[in-house]
Amino acid sequence: MDGFVTIAREGDVPEGTGATFSVDDRLVALFHTIDGYRAIDDLCPHMGASLGSGALEGTVVSCPWHAWRFDVCSGNWVDNPKLHVASHEVRLEGNEIQVRLKTEI
Ligand code: FES
Repeated sequence: MDGFVTIAREGDVPEGTGATFSVDDRLVALFHTIDGYRAIDDLCPHMGASLGSGALEGTVVSCPWHAWRFDVCSGNWVDNPKLHVASHEVRLEGNEIQVRLKTEI
């Protein structure tokens, strides 16, 4: 096993949106950007909102509760890159969207 897990299929997450998936015991936010799929941890480090349900603009998602903004490529908080959530590798295998979880942030 190479650690990649199928979480969705092409078409499940329309371009310009995100969605949350459970992978092992972790919640992962998957985003369909104009440059492809990106994945970060779903829980906002502020108060735990689901980043997968936030509004996506380009490669930046705004937390739905208090609008902290995160780059979905790096996981960095846009307004202070010292704070970040884990970003995860994403690949397409046929029409399957697969992620490999990063164990450390
Ligand atoms: S819970 Fe995300 S900004 Fe407050």
